[in-house]
Amino acid sequence: MNPVIENILSRQTIREYTDQQVPDDLLDVILQCAIRAPSGRNTQPCHLRILRNREMLEEMNKDFKDIVGWDTPAYTGWDKRPVYHNAPVFIFIFAKDKSDMAAGLMAENIALAAHSSGLGSCMIGSLGGLFDNPDGKKKWMKILDVPEDWCFLLGMTLGYPNEKPPFKDREDGHIKFIG
Ligand SMILES: Cc1cc2nc3c(=O)[nH]c(=O)nc-3n(C[C@H](O)[C@H](O)[C@H](O)COP(=O)(O)O)c2cc1C
Repeated sequence: MNPVIENILSRQTIREYTDQQVPDDLLDVILQCAIRAPSGRNTQPCHLRILRNREMLEEMNKDFKDIVGWDTPAYTGWDKRPVYHNAPVFIFIFAKDKSDMAAGLMAENIALAAHSSGLGSCMIGSLGGLFDNPDGKKKWMKILDVPEDWCFLLGMTLGYPNEKPPFKDREDGHIKFIG
């Protein structure tokens, strides 16, 4: 099979990571893939922030849990794991317009580039709860050196997989040819 198609069809979300850090040169390539994502009129609305410091990730997790709730279900059913899934790299995507779909294109480029390089990733939309809170937003926009008029769009974990989760099927009926 065409390796690009094989990569797309075999990607899956990873939520368990080894402690191994992602090498700088590999991370650079993945971030270049993110930046290459298309945007309307090439306006390039999205900005990335990368966090690799474990203490800061733990602090973010504590703030998230304190603000959003320790028993608040994440997207995939609740468990006690940290919102960043103990990944060694966390990527934040910001833009001025909360509904800018360019963020999704960037995120998928990251996920596919990561997967093709032996890395795993997980998109983290639930972290939005931290930025919806005025105190959480103020603190983390400052830490992440982000202007106040930007919006958090999506987080992403990145690291070497330490699990092989069952493959999640997709429902039929989402594609219809008309005419
Ligand atoms: C926009 C978006 C937000 C997501 N947010 C979270 C999240 O906050 N936490 C999490 O563990 N997974 C999150 N996920 C991962 C989804 O749960 C996962 O993609 C879905 O269950 C399908 O599994 P697959 O990616 O392995 O095919 C998110 C995925 C997307 C696309």
